Amino acid sequence: MKAFITIEGNDGSGKSTVIEGLKKVFAERGVDVVFTREPGGSAIAEQIRGIILDPKNTEMDDKTEALLYAASRRQHLRETVLPALEQGKLVICDRFIDSSLAYQGHARGIGIEEVYDMNMFATSGMLPDLTLYILVSPEVGLSRKTHQKELDRLELETNNFHKTVYEGYLKLVERFPERVVLINGEKTKEEVLSETLKVIDKFLNK
Ligand code: TYD
Repeated sequence: MKAFITIEGNDGSGKSTVIEGLKKVFAERGVDVVFTREPGGSAIAEQIRGIILDPKNTEMDDKTEALLYAASRRQHLRETVLPALEQGKLVICDRFIDSSLAYQGHARGIGIEEVYDMNMFATSGMLPDLTLYILVSPEVGLSRKTHQKELDRLELETNNFHKTVYEGYLKLVERFPERVVLINGEKTKEEVLSETLKVIDKFLNK
């Protein structure tokens, strides 16, 4: 059962709802799954998350942002993900390296390969076993987010930024065909959850 699965999505994709659904399903099955998230997932990583997402930090440099995400990722791996995998558990993580590649690498314009290399240093070369991208068109994503009251620093970015994030994810589907599976987030909640589960179960039963 030991595996490291990550769930990705552009803002407003419904990723969080899918993860809530997965938690219920695995609990009903009696399977011990460690659900975690980035940025954050350990005490130090959560503190770094606070700095990254604080809307007051308008002066943050793009590379500083990328480095902070990577720093939080390393700490989260060391404290949360690796110990769980060593115990033979299944770990499902809300966002991981692909978020950095799409948001910092592509949308911020640092470069996907540059951010990939920097993350390989941070994770000592570790990649997820399976990654699901739940994607909605940027228009749908943004229309869903306007109902939310407090937006963080990344959510406050321009529509064009969110469009570029989406395009970044599409590029990554081609870059990592063996690891990444694309899920259409514009279907109903139930359909998105059942498709996601199908992909995970197929992978676990391999
Ligand atoms: P979060 O509140 O977790 O958003 P969501 O519910 O959309 O997952 O905030 C995380 C924000 O940080 C989100 O806008 C995506 C962004 N992000 C990056 O830009 N790079 C990264 O490496 C990660 C992990 C997240």
